[in-house]
Amino acid sequence: MLKIHKNHSLKNNNTFGVDIASAYFAEPQSADEIKFALEYAQERNWNYYVTGEGSNLLYVSDYDGLIIRPRLNNIAISDESASEILLNVQAGVNWDQFVSYCVSNNWYGTENLSLIPGSVGAAPVQNIGAYGTEAKEIIEFVEALDTRTMKIELLSNNNCQFGYRDSIFKRSNDRYIVLGVTFRLQKNGTFRLDYGNLKEEFSRMPDQTLADLRETVINIRRKKLPDPSLYGNAGSFFKNPVVHRNLFESIRHRYGKVPHYEMNSAKIKIPAAWLIEKAGWKGKRHSNVGTWPTQPLVIVNYGNASGIEIYEFSEMVRQSVLDTFNIHLLREVTLIDISEN
Ligand code: EPU
Repeated sequence: MLKIHKNHSLKNNNTFGVDIASAYFAEPQSADEIKFALEYAQERNWNYYVTGEGSNLLYVSDYDGLIIRPRLNNIAISDESASEILLNVQAGVNWDQFVSYCVSNNWYGTENLSLIPGSVGAAPVQNIGAYGTEAKEIIEFVEALDTRTMKIELLSNNNCQFGYRDSIFKRSNDRYIVLGVTFRLQKNGTFRLDYGNLKEEFSRMPDQTLADLRETVINIRRKKLPDPSLYGNAGSFFKNPVVHRNLFESIRHRYGKVPHYEMNSAKIKIPAAWLIEKAGWKGKRHSNVGTWPTQPLVIVNYGNASGIEIYEFSEMVRQSVLDTFNIHLLREVTLIDISEN
């Protein structure tokens, strides 16, 4: 029987380390237990929210409802050929343990996504990405519970509607609960080294194996990004904005060199980190909250910051980028529970 905990601290369930609580909390271990938790909440008119390891969200206040943390933890091979393998991985598996498992078997596809905090169930929601790859490139299909019909659905890659840190799971307002993800991995893959200084750092590794590529990515991340177990954070707080070429040209006119990626002839992506730095917020700290000195897109809880303090700091950064560049930054982090997210 599924246990529903009352007045549960969520301090260890969010990587910002915000000390808040939910009225109710449950850790279902099967699809049936997830259904039970949902029905339990619906019968009592409680709000509910399904979370993984809480590595991409900010709780701004105590949660007056049921937090559901799926704990389905199996990995199984569902098909295999001489060149490929299909792996069915349940939502509760830790993402980096999954990457480590793939790399140790010499299966290609996950290695550039090493050390991203969070669970496998969150990977398709966010379409997690780093160092030139995104989860959508290796996802075959997603098994999800449709909360409207209470039926389990298999959504093909196409039906997941993946975008930049976006998917049907993120957009459909809690309609789907991810139960598991099937990944297609390569046995004789190629290394993806196009992003930033990855190629250069990798070339220094003695053997240049798949495990070496994982180690290179881990080293780059450790150098640049704060370890959430030491400094509470949720990775990039905002997305990199895509702006019209005219706006980009006017910024370039003002600043000379501006890092950017051409999306098409009209649209240009500018790193939010650069905008935040130029707006004067790199390494800035207000009491317990600040931006990380080597990557200002990451907002850090330096002490016992509350969710509202972190939120208010992020809004100052956002307003400042708007005032300086006329660019609205969109949050990558999900706010709970503010509806304008
Ligand atoms: N930059 C600055 N100042 C800085 C740091 C960076 O101007 O202090 C500029 C530089 O021009 C740099 C550019 O920003 O080349 C990009 O920086 P970085 O390579 O660190 O990547 P990012 O665009 O800031 C994205 C993802 C990260 C992912 C990295 C690496 C988003 C919102 N973030 O960051 O993902 O790890 O690329 O692939 O797309 C996350 O989603 O939580 C996350 C950490």
